[in-house]
Amino acid sequence: MSEALGIRFLVVDDEETIRRLCMTVAEGMGFSTMQASNGEEALSLLETQPADIVLTDLVMPRMSGLEFLERAKKILPRVEVAVMTGHGSIETAVQAMKLGAYDYIAKPFAPLEELRLFLRRMAEKIELVEENHFLRERMDAEIRLHGIVGATPKIQDVLRMISRLKDTRTPVLIVGESGTGKELVARAIHFRGSYAARPFVAVDCGSLVPSLIESELFGYEKGAFTGALRSKSGLFQSAHGGTIFLDEIGELPLEMQAKLLRVLQEKEVRPVGSNERFKVDVRVIAATNRDLEVEYRAGRFRKDLYFRLDVVTIRLPALRERRSDIPMLVHWFLDRHGKGAFVQVTSAAMKCLLEYEWPGNVRELENAMERAIALGDSHVIDVSDLPPSIASLPPSVTLTPPVNSAMAVSSTDLEDIERATIERVFEQVNGDKVMARKMLGISRATLYRKLKRYNIGSRTPVSASTQRLQ
Ligand SMILES: Nc1ncnc2c1ncn2[C@@H]1O[C@H](COP(=O)(O)OP(=O)(O)OP(=O)(O)O)[C@@H](O)[C@H]1O
Ligand SMILES: [Mg+2]
Repeated sequence: MSEALGIRFLVVDDEETIRRLCMTVAEGMGFSTMQASNGEEALSLLETQPADIVLTDLVMPRMSGLEFLERAKKILPRVEVAVMTGHGSIETAVQAMKLGAYDYIAKPFAPLEELRLFLRRMAEKIELVEENHFLRERMDAEIRLHGIVGATPKIQDVLRMISRLKDTRTPVLIVGESGTGKELVARAIHFRGSYAARPFVAVDCGSLVPSLIESELFGYEKGAFTGALRSKSGLFQSAHGGTIFLDEIGELPLEMQAKLLRVLQEKEVRPVGSNERFKVDVRVIAATNRDLEVEYRAGRFRKDLYFRLDVVTIRLPALRERRSDIPMLVHWFLDRHGKGAFVQVTSAAMKCLLEYEWPGNVRELENAMERAIALGDSHVIDVSDLPPSIASLPPSVTLTPPVNSAMAVSSTDLEDIERATIERVFEQVNGDKVMARKMLGISRATLYRKLKRYNIGSRTPVSASTQRLQ
């Protein structure tokens, strides 16, 4: 983290020399600074002028540092407050940590460099938290709607396809490696569309017992086979009016493929052992992780059924083909499995996640995040919380600058993604900062800071509206 642009700093101390000293150091680091000589004054300041970092004395007239700390956190839950301890009042400092203080530093500051490093670490933590928030807030804007996370063009194409198909009855074939989200997409097509209130029936063709597939799908008549004590309707009939999702369709035996084809062509089913036919209006969505073209060329899949299903094909990219979606997915799963806690990921851990090959795709990533939450004992996920296969990359890829703390330098990957996202949004809104801020779902100060950091906006033509920040 090269510079701490826009970090707002507040020092609270009844001693003017201390305040002046802290302000000088903070200003030298590029922070904007404020000061207060007691807790009350500081609190009323924070109500109108939020700070990112606060350094407070513990022993002050009227309001103690501890009381100030507690009340400041209520006003600004994300503010980082560190306490300055005067005469070795370690117990009080420990108490402050329990109340959520960032850390403590002993007065007098000797050497001054110690204070500088201390403030630098605080600023880095703020930036890490912000980066994590940034990704999360961006997700809020677009994704919570349909549960499909991703901003890369490949996933955006998938989302467009879903929108186009959701109100139609067109058969859809979804292909993709295991864990890429085939079922998620099938459900989105059904549940986001005008048939959402109708049934959605999922059938895993791979797990059906071959001899029972036909009766499962199309039903059976009483006495059709031993044990058929009464007639039963099949899954196609259950899906009448809605959608049947034929998962792992590549696993269907050839003989069943012929029967399925007939049902799709004639739009009616004949239960096993029955002479009667029943009309079924069912939209078919099929999924497979096999290449059906290869399968039909090899004689393992019926060509006519393939063409029947392949009216529209959605190809889901492997996770390694859309790595820049990884940070967003990570936060999505941390939110989903984190039981409401705000879990952060260190840059080093994120780097591992970005570089791993992900043979199990999104499902593997989801499992890794669930595991990290279950095993980790803090709100920060570091490399050691990741499964060994992900944490231990070959030496060639781990040769990066040493990362010695959870609050270390931000990953360039993350920055690239962030920069690209802001640039894209900025283009969309023609450089209007108010709009950009709304679309990105971030605070005015955060946007300002990011724009400066990435040098965005200065190149955009400036009109009256782009001048506004609020
Ligand atoms: N783009 C995505 N955004 C959010 N979650 C996703 C995404 N893709 C997949 N998931 C999640 O990953 C898990 C696996 O997805 P899903 O079951 O749809 O994959 P699949 O392709 O059907 O896998 P398989 O071939 O193994 O059956 C699910 O929990 C799903 O919610
Ligand atoms: Mg599946």
